[in-house]
Amino acid sequence: MSLIIESLNHQIVDGDNHRQLLSDISLSVSQGECIALMGDSGSGKTTLLNLIAGLEPIQQGSIRIAGLQLAQATEKKLSELRKKHLSIIFQQYNLLSNLSVQDNIEFSARLAGRYDALLCSTLTKQLDIHSLPHKYPATLSGGEMQRVAIARALSAQPKLLLADEPTGNLDEHNSTCVVELLVKLAKLHNTALLMVTHSVNVAQRMDKIYRLADGQLTLVEKAF
Ligand SMILES: Nc1ncnc2c1ncn2[C@@H]1O[C@H](COP(=O)(O)OP(=O)(O)OP(=O)(O)O)[C@@H](O)[C@H]1O
Ligand SMILES: [Mg+2]
Repeated sequence: MSLIIESLNHQIVDGDNHRQLLSDISLSVSQGECIALMGDSGSGKTTLLNLIAGLEPIQQGSIRIAGLQLAQATEKKLSELRKKHLSIIFQQYNLLSNLSVQDNIEFSARLAGRYDALLCSTLTKQLDIHSLPHKYPATLSGGEMQRVAIARALSAQPKLLLADEPTGNLDEHNSTCVVELLVKLAKLHNTALLMVTHSVNVAQRMDKIYRLADGQLTLVEKAF
């Protein structure tokens, strides 16, 4: 199992009030499994991804990734996990502005010690960004930045890939292509994929769909 969340609770401070954003959440994602996470804006999807990525402290409950219990892990172990086993496609891409497209894509793979020139070049072709290797992020369109962020995340062949609306800036055709590619590569490399999406079409292409509402996470029946 790549990811096991048990009885996770998370409160946020909203002015003078405390709001229970995540309430007793449990979720398991096995290797190669592709999960869609849906829910209204503000329901806590990005916060949940941040907790899984170890970017926010766990208040209550447990998150285990590739056997590592996050709440008890040292900063060194957490950073090793992020470097080697976890990739994130952020809602705001977070590309490195002083690196070219090609260097951005190779960066995480090199950091993880899994740089594979053939995989990097295949990914850039599959994501239709092979004409941009020497451009810098500031000169790219939103959809191009999104595809570079996807290539960067996949180039490291992570055990767990967290993706926050990775198709939010893409048109219908590109969005379908990108999701099919993400699912295909997740299966090929045995990567667990947890993807936030507002698109029912995108969610339908995943193995399971969960919805976050009023702090509760529930499995949604897929329509066939
Ligand atoms: N550090 C924080 N302190 C206080 N409130 C926060 C903090 N981080 C997020 N929030 C609030 O928590 C709620 C959930 O935010 P989050 O970003 O997780 O939502 P989301 O489901 O990802 O929404 P969207 O679909 O718009 O991206 C929001 O109301 C947000 O304002
Ligand atoms: Mg969000």
